[in-house]
Formats: sequence, C-alpha cells, structure tokens
Amino acid sequence: MISVEDIDVHYGDLQVLWELSLEIREDDSIVAIVGPNGAGKTTLLKTLSGVLRPTTGSIELFGEATHDLSPSDIVQRGFVHVSEKRNLFHDLTVYENLRMGAYTQRDEFDETYEEVTDMFPVLEERRDQKAGTLSGGEQQMLAIGRGLMAHPTVLALDEPSGALAPQLAGRVFEKIDEISEDITIILIEQHVDQALDLSDRVYLLENGRIATEGTGAEMLESDHVRETYLSG
Ligand SMILES: Nc1ncnc2c1ncn2[C@@H]1O[C@H](COP(=O)(O)OP(=O)(O)OP(=O)(O)O)[C@@H](O)[C@H]1O
Ligand SMILES: [Mg+2]
Repeated sequence: MISVEDIDVHYGDLQVLWELSLEIREDDSIVAIVGPNGAGKTTLLKTLSGVLRPTTGSIELFGEATHDLSPSDIVQRGFVHVSEKRNLFHDLTVYENLRMGAYTQRDEFDETYEEVTDMFPVLEERRDQKAGTLSGGEQQMLAIGRGLMAHPTVLALDEPSGALAPQLAGRVFEKIDEISEDITIILIEQHVDQALDLSDRVYLLENGRIATEGTGAEMLESDHVRETYLSG
C-alpha cells in the first residue's frame, strides 16, 4: 500500500532522513517505527503526509506516486496522520473537531460519527465541551477519533501515548489494537518494548536511517536492539 524508496529529506541545508526505504503492506495491521529522540520519526510521517517533500527518492501511496499530491489529496486517498502535537482546535467543541476531521468525507458524516463515538464513548459525553478543556487522555482520544472521521485506509499515529500516565497509555494502546482490526496502523513509538508487543513488524530508525527491521521476534534476536533499547 505504501512504498518508500531511497528518500532523502532535508530542512533547508540540514539532512534528516538518509536513503530511507520501507513498505507498508495490505496485510499489515500495526507497523511500528521506533527510535530515539531526534531520529527522524516525525519527519518521516510529515513526508508521507506530503507536508515535506523528499529531495531524492520516491513514495508510492496505493499505487500512485505522491510527488504531485498535496497533503489534502493524500488524506483523500486514505492516508491520515495524527500528529504528535494533536493539533486540535482548542476553542472548538469536541463535535466541531470531529466535524473538521470529516472534511474530505462529508456525505457519510452521521454514520462515521456514530462509529467513532461507539469506539470512544467519552467523545459523545463531552460532545459540546471545548477541546482545550479536555484531559490529556481525552484529547488523545479526540485526536485519534478525528483521524478516523476521514475514513483512513492507513492511520499513522505519532506517539499516541506521549505524556500520558501508564494506565491511560494502556487504554490508548487497547483502542489502537481494536482499530487495527479494520485499518492498517503506523505507530511511532519511543518505547521499543511496547512497540514490539503490539506490532507485526518494526522498523528501527536511528540518525535518519533504518538501522534494523523485522518482526517483533526478529528484533528480539538483535543484540543491538536488546542492548540499546530493552533492559534485561
Ligand atoms: N522544522 C524543522 N527545522 C529544522 N530542523 C528540524 C525541524 N523539525 C525537526 N528538525 C530536526 O530534525 C531531526 C529529526 O526530528 P524529528 O522531529 O523527526 O525526530 P523524532 O524522531 O520525531 O524525535 P522525537 O522522538 O523527539 O519526537 C532533529 O534533529 C530535529 O532537530
Ligand atoms: Mg517526533
């Protein structure tokens, strides 16, 4: 479904991604991209979303080259990215935020709204509350719910458990697991151990390059992964 081939990505003169290649396949449920702070994980997602452009290499999304597609074209094709900063409209209500998420899919709004609030009942309970007044966990649910409103085929989540207490993070991961029954998830995580638990396949990104990739079991066999990212 997504095929990234040998891309370099720069911010001005600063190169952040180097000859990076990866594949997301139809039968993947959750593919994790893990790596330390500054490795380039968010940059990779921004590039897949069309916000940044590779300076060399190519990206194919659902069989189509993306170099001429705008970020909203890419959403319309079915790739939706929930950013690390969540980017909610804080002065709008929960309902209005969900409505914004559906901007590419206005026809099926009612049905999708029902599916999303079935998955996240708290969003219906807080329907008329301003997004900025939600708790951190609720804001994360809203950000994921808003992403789902666009009917993604692939949903990319940038550190969905970031800044949440462990128990809440666990609830978010349960929801992600549930969503992955229907939708392919790209999960960005700093916590390699959690990513190995949840994902079918994992790419380890270090200094802007793919250092290792494989199934959870294969990653566990790597001395480098064990020594650097897993304690004990
Ligand atoms: N807008 C920008 N302009 C210049 N440099 C940037 C910009 N955004 C990110 N960078 C640099 O690119 C590198 C990769 O950043 P990126 O945000 O992709 O890392 P990350 O893996 O998502 O890290 P984290 O785990 O902290 O979120 C970092 O060195 C960062 O300083
Ligand atoms: Mg990041």
